[in-house]
This record gives sequence, C-alpha cells and structure tokens, in this order.
Amino acid sequence: MDLSALDFGAPAAERDIAHGLIDYFVESQAFQNVATGKKSVILGNRGSGKSAIFKVLAQREKAAGRLVLELSPDDYSYEILTRSLAREAQGSWAKHGAFTAAWKYLIYVLVMKGLAKDGPRLRTGDAARIYEYLRDNHQDIADNPISLLVSYVKRIEGFKIGSYEASLKTRELDRLYKLEEIINLLPALNAVCSKRRVLVLVDELDRGWDASEDAKSFVAGLFQACIGINQNSPDVRVIVSLRRELYDSIPSLYEDAQKYRDMIETIGWDERTLLQLVANRIRHSITDLSVADDADAWNHVFAETLNYRQAKSFNYIVDRTLYRPREIIQFCSDAHAESQRVHQSPIDYQVISNAELVYSEGRTKDIAAEYRFQFPGLLSVFEVFRGRTYAFDRDELELLCLGICTAEYRTDEEAKWVLNQEPDFLIETLWSIGFLRAQAVGGIKALRRSGSSYLGPHQVANLNLRNTQRFHVHPMFRAYLAMKEGRERADDD
Ligand SMILES: Nc1ncnc2c1ncn2[C@@H]1O[C@H](COP(=O)(O)OP(=O)(O)OP(=O)(O)O)[C@@H](O)[C@H]1O
Ligand SMILES: [Mg+2]
Repeated sequence: MDLSALDFGAPAAERDIAHGLIDYFVESQAFQNVATGKKSVILGNRGSGKSAIFKVLAQREKAAGRLVLELSPDDYSYEILTRSLAREAQGSWAKHGAFTAAWKYLIYVLVMKGLAKDGPRLRTGDAARIYEYLRDNHQDIADNPISLLVSYVKRIEGFKIGSYEASLKTRELDRLYKLEEIINLLPALNAVCSKRRVLVLVDELDRGWDASEDAKSFVAGLFQACIGINQNSPDVRVIVSLRRELYDSIPSLYEDAQKYRDMIETIGWDERTLLQLVANRIRHSITDLSVADDADAWNHVFAETLNYRQAKSFNYIVDRTLYRPREIIQFCSDAHAESQRVHQSPIDYQVISNAELVYSEGRTKDIAAEYRFQFPGLLSVFEVFRGRTYAFDRDELELLCLGICTAEYRTDEEAKWVLNQEPDFLIETLWSIGFLRAQAVGGIKALRRSGSSYLGPHQVANLNLRNTQRFHVHPMFRAYLAMKEGRERADDD
C-alpha cells in the first residue's frame, strides 16, 4: 500500500486543529464529562489531550452560536506577578483570596467585553449598563488581560499592607473582595448570557510556570473563581486545564482535594482508545481505508507482527509510550517518515527501531524537563542506568538506588533531592514518573492487555511497590540509554 498520503497529524492540538482534529477526534469519556458540564477542571499530563478537548469544544460551541473566550496567559505572566507583587510574608496577606477575587473580576470583565463586541444589541435595555461600564472603565484591556488581574491584586495588596487607618482598610478590602465595582451589573450580565451562553476556556497555565508563591496562588485562585462563577452565573461556564504535576505541587489544591474532587476530570487513555486515535488518523488520510476497523487500519500501515521480534507491532509501539496521545502520534509519525525515506511498506521492525532512537531520546529528555520543578536534574539520574540491563531484582535495584542516594554514582548538582534518601523513596519516585515499571502479582486491575505483568502509573493508580520483587525500566527510555536485555530474554516487555 502506498503510504505517501498518510498523515498522523500535528503533535499539539493548537496545530492539529488545522490538520483535521475535528474529523479524527476521539470523543473520550473525559470529553463527554467536560462537554456536558459535569466537570470543569481538566487534569492531565503533558500531551494527554487537554488542549484537544478545548479546541474541539470551542469549535462546537462557536458553531452553536455561543460566545467562546479562550484565555492562555502569555509566557511572562508569572514573572510579572513575582516582579510586581509583595511577598505574603511582607504583609501577612492571603494571596489566595486576593487572586480569587481578581480572577472573578477579570473573567466577568472579559465576558462583558466579549458580549459588547456583539454591537448595538448591547446598547439598549438592561445591557446598556454593561456597555456604559465598559466604556467608562475598560477602554483598553484587550491587549493584556492578565495586567487587569495583576492590577486588581495590587489594589488589594495596597490596602493589606499599606498604612491606612484600620476601618478604612477593612471597608476597602471588603469592597474589593466582594467585587463591588461590578457586582450590581451581574444580574444584567446573567440576563444577557441567558440569551447567548458563554464558555471561558483557560489553558496553558503551565507556560512560563516558575513554581513561585504567586504562581501557585494564581492557579489556586483561578480554581476558586471557577467554582464561584459556575455557581453564580449559570450561563457562563469556566473550564480550566492543568498539568497533573502542577496540581500536585500546589498544596492549597490537593489539601482541599475534597472541595475540588467533583469538579475535576483526569484524562486517561488505554490501549483500545489509543488504537482508535491512531486508526482515526489513518482512515482520515488514506481514503482506501476509510471503512476499515481499527485493527485493520493499523495492520495496513504497520506489519501486524514485527519480524525479528515476533511481537505485535501495535503492542511494541504502545509499550513505548506512557499512554499519551502525543507520544504515539510522534512515534508513528517518526516511523512513517523513516519508512518513506527507505521506501518500505508496511512499516516493519527495522524502520520502527531506526525511528525509535530519536524518539526515545526526545521522550527521555522531555520527561526530565516535565518534572524539572519537582525533581530537578532527573536526566542525570536516568543516566546512571545507561548501558545496564533493564530488568532488575529488587535487591539489585535497591543497591543501584542506594548508590545514587549516597553519591557513589554522580548526578547533577541540581539533583540534590536524591541525596541521603532511602532507596525506596527513589524507586517510588522513578515509578511515579513512569521510568520504572513494577511486576504486579495477583489480580491487579489495570489498563493493560492480559498476559503482561509489568505496570506503570499510566496503567494502574496504585501499586504496593514495597512488595514488588522485580522491576524494569520502561521500554520508552531504553533505546536512548542503550540498555541491554540481560541473560533471560525479558519475561515480557
Ligand atoms: N481525544 C482526542 N482525539 C484525537 N486526538 C487527540 C485527542 N486528544 C489529544 N489528541 C491529540 O494528541 C496530541 C496532544 O494533545 P494536546 O496538544 O491536546 O495535549 P495537551 O494535554 O494540551 O499537552 P500540553 O500539556 O503539552 O499542552 C495532539 O496532536 C492532539 O490533537
Ligand atoms: Mg496543551
């Protein structure tokens, strides 16, 4: 089969939307829960499909005549926060609450602005007040909405730590927290929105993330504001996406997990849905396959069983991912590019393994970069595994980790979080980021085809690692780290 027309699309939703995402989008349960309004925070790892949900939702809502506002704070917003705001300790002021108020203020003003673009309709009746308010107060916010948020927080900060008389302080703060400037407009706003519903999407909160106190309050405040607005304005929906590890690093969020649990949707994929995701793309670009089922579509492009390995090609590829769409799209695209170069079709082991080296290097470095705030210098920890056999008994692995924790094996300066830790801590950490997989015994329910027993965090939420006797390095990292198979051929990869 001629594969020259094959196109797996772009690995980021922002560009993929122009390739055909609308056509080959997989309507996952996560999407359903967000689209129907059950959930309003999307949690997911890098490349798991947060923006894809937003892009498709935005397109559909626009087509239905709704107003959609897409907010993605620019790269420098966190730096601006730290530069312009006083530290909490300087004035014992709870930033969290200040940011909540500021986010509500910003979002409501943006919604008013968006509706005002509708033109004359807004200049009569109830809505005229909104128009007048905007005219008198917000002639020029379009360019940098975050600056409006910052200036609101700064107003609160001014009264918190400025030297005002106590009663004035309390009064002014109260006004700011209660959004007095706009509160009287909200009934009018809700009335306008009941005729034209509004969807506000906040994505890319991780861009420029610097893990600062302000950055954390910024996100925690947004969560609160999102709850508040969704409760008070039934026709304005705010949906926020957040990277999993960012969420985990904001104590005020996970400590309040109860409060947020029912609004959070965590994106998860399994082998069946990932196959569907790839097959949709194959069918989209190769019209001859447009009615093939998922497995059929795959097997026209990839040799079903890889020569040399005798493994199923889909299993081989999906095993080299952490079940994130971006990974499988990337790997398939790389393999396809290689197959075009050497004129081979269907795509077989030689081509896949040629593509694998570059893919593995990219993924290893990306994962290290992804966790740079929680676990800086992670790449140097991975490097300790270079050239070794990839399967470990517990004893061997503990010894290796002990060597890392005692600096017998050198890691980067930055990676000092490993020093003087128990080997078990390092094992848990490496498992939790997907670098290690653990052999599960007993009837563990996991998102994995039967017959394979090594599991990672993308396949099973919890595993009692302390009872695990065998581990191996996840296959995605092995090619780059030149890891070897060892004496007995892996029981299963
Ligand atoms: N449900 C889906 N159906 C089809 N393709 C999807 C789906 N979800 C994600 N993808 C594709 O997977 C790739 C990665 O998705 P996306 O860019 O949305 O990830 P993300 O979670 O926003 O990542 P990041 O954290 O880097 O912003 C994109 O090519 C996207 O189009
Ligand atoms: Mg994204």
